Amino acid sequence: MKIAIGADHGGFELKESIKKHLEELGGYEVVDYGTYSPESVDYAAIAYKVGKAVTSENILGILCCGTGIGISMAANKVKGVRAACCSDYFSAKFTRMHNDANILCMGGRVVGAGLANELVDVFLTTEFEGGGRHQRRIDQITAIENGTFVE
Ligand code: RB5
Repeated sequence: MKIAIGADHGGFELKESIKKHLEELGGYEVVDYGTYSPESVDYAAIAYKVGKAVTSENILGILCCGTGIGISMAANKVKGVRAACCSDYFSAKFTRMHNDANILCMGGRVVGAGLANELVDVFLTTEFEGGGRHQRRIDQITAIENGTFVE
């Protein structure tokens, strides 16, 4: 399974630890869009690269910054991205099941490495429930994104 991953300096260490975790698990091809050192960088550029990879290749992504918030805000501006900033197991699971989230965002200054691994595992292995109300609501999000939403 191919995964796009990225972080700014605030999420750099967490990204590195998640990469190691996924390598140890095996079965994942992790493509790292940076940053590649703890030096300060702007998170929007990383969010854009991972967002583009996720939507163009129809894969899942992982993004980390200090809080997980800025990078999720930026990623959600890429058409087709549904990025969810999570710091608990329930949200990481249900954002796949109900929102068909395609990027998991986490804060390197918020969650520890152990919890992050749990969030990553459940996010990557949980399927969208599909059908009915969940798909309808996602279609509404897409309509807002496309400027075609009818109130
Ligand atoms: C960088 O210091 C920090 O602002 C960034 O990583 C992130 O937390 C923004 O939302």
